[in-house]
Amino acid sequence: MQELSTYLENNKERFLEELKELVRIPSVSADPAYKEEVAKTAEFVAQKLKDAGCEGVEICPTKGHPIVYGEKLIDAALPTVLVYGHYDVQPADPLELWDSGPFDPIVKKTELHPEGALFARGSCDDKGQMYMHVKAFEGMVKHNNLPCNVKFMIEGEEEVGSENLGTFITENTERLSADVCLISDTSMIANDVPSITTGLRGLSYVEVEVTGPNRDLHSGVYGGAVANPVNVLSKMIAALQDENNHITIPGFYDDVEVVSEEERTQMNLAPFDLEAFQKDLEIGKIQGETGYTSLERTSIRPTLDVNGIWGGYIGEGAKTVLPSKAFAKISMRLVPHQTPDKITELFKQHFEKIAPPSVKVKVTPHHGGDPVVTPTDSVEYQAAAKAYEATFGKTPIPQRSGGSIPIVALFERVLGVKTVLMGFGLNSDAIHSPNEHFGLFNYYKGIETIPYFYKYYAEMKKNG
Ligand code: BES
Ligand code: MN
Ligand code: MN
Repeated sequence: MQELSTYLENNKERFLEELKELVRIPSVSADPAYKEEVAKTAEFVAQKLKDAGCEGVEICPTKGHPIVYGEKLIDAALPTVLVYGHYDVQPADPLELWDSGPFDPIVKKTELHPEGALFARGSCDDKGQMYMHVKAFEGMVKHNNLPCNVKFMIEGEEEVGSENLGTFITENTERLSADVCLISDTSMIANDVPSITTGLRGLSYVEVEVTGPNRDLHSGVYGGAVANPVNVLSKMIAALQDENNHITIPGFYDDVEVVSEEERTQMNLAPFDLEAFQKDLEIGKIQGETGYTSLERTSIRPTLDVNGIWGGYIGEGAKTVLPSKAFAKISMRLVPHQTPDKITELFKQHFEKIAPPSVKVKVTPHHGGDPVVTPTDSVEYQAAAKAYEATFGKTPIPQRSGGSIPIVALFERVLGVKTVLMGFGLNSDAIHSPNEHFGLFNYYKGIETIPYFYKYYAEMKKNG
């Protein structure tokens, strides 16, 4: 592995320059205005895979944005690693809150990243983390040091729900067959506290529309006598949680896995600095479901959050109006064994039921995804743990994450492969937010650690 370290050391500058080039392309999957840019990003990724030594590189069209596929199959007797990542990014807005252009990458030092961090949309989620795999692979190929077969599947629609990827994997089960799926698209606890993600929450996402009068009204002439849909929607949303921040939808918790006291004690041993957490977010006090710690609230417990709410007049100054309609986008994070279809249906029924007769409501489901939990006694987890030990000098802590990667549940269901989540970002890296960044330490550490995973995984598979 020495030659790989030397290779990384000698190529750090280039690896960073290439990542900068990648994040300069605004591959915003949600906005049709960026379709060309998304396509260009797919081409960039495809080219880099070829340059790194991939064969059969293909840009696979879908009904939406393309999927980039490439492979290097060296020996049928060796295990096969399927690397998944995404090259699409979240929209950059609100633009005015960025200290530098979201697509003008710049390296700056921060408190948590004294070696510097690359600021740009997608630097961490997931271009930076995905690209670590391309560079780690390049190193292994260059040095004839690839211990596994590798398949890359890099998609362009993760941030919009991966709807077409489901079809792609169903239609390509043969081509995608693998022993394990390897993903870097999550976070670790801290740069000196490595961790491996052992769970992701599921997701149910709905949009609601509340209609009052058939047109906007003068809020003086009509106000007081006609239901205001914004007022009504606010009350309905407020009623979705009780004073203990428990969700009030009947049946919502029915399938929630009860985590044992022992496991809860274990998970709360993970370092969590409440002071620092509050200070970082500039919040007076944390809040959440009674009876659970912050770590539990963001991992083993389901949630309900309004992601956006609008209606009425939101322009400059004051306009007196009693709006006809109000809207909200609501996400529910799910845990085992909740399912998005059932939760969406329960939400819909309840929301329609609590609506007063003065308004009409419409509930429209968006994408969803199943939760996942991965075992720690598996070969893939153990190989990953050894890899972190080799490069961080510390045993990583298993930690369930609050985020979602909806396709992971399908990897297991459709392809029958287990996933290992080797995330190298930090929660404070501002993914989806202004000033997203990725530590250079994290980027290089990822490139250094990944080949160890391949090595240990191959060894452990071989020795049964
Ligand atoms: N990479 C994130 C998920 C993530 C981030 C998991 C940090 C764990 C820690 C992914 O790109 C993402 O943002 N997923 C979305 C869901 C998707 C359907 C839009 C999410 O979690 O909101
Ligand atoms: Mn991601
Ligand atoms: Mn994301």
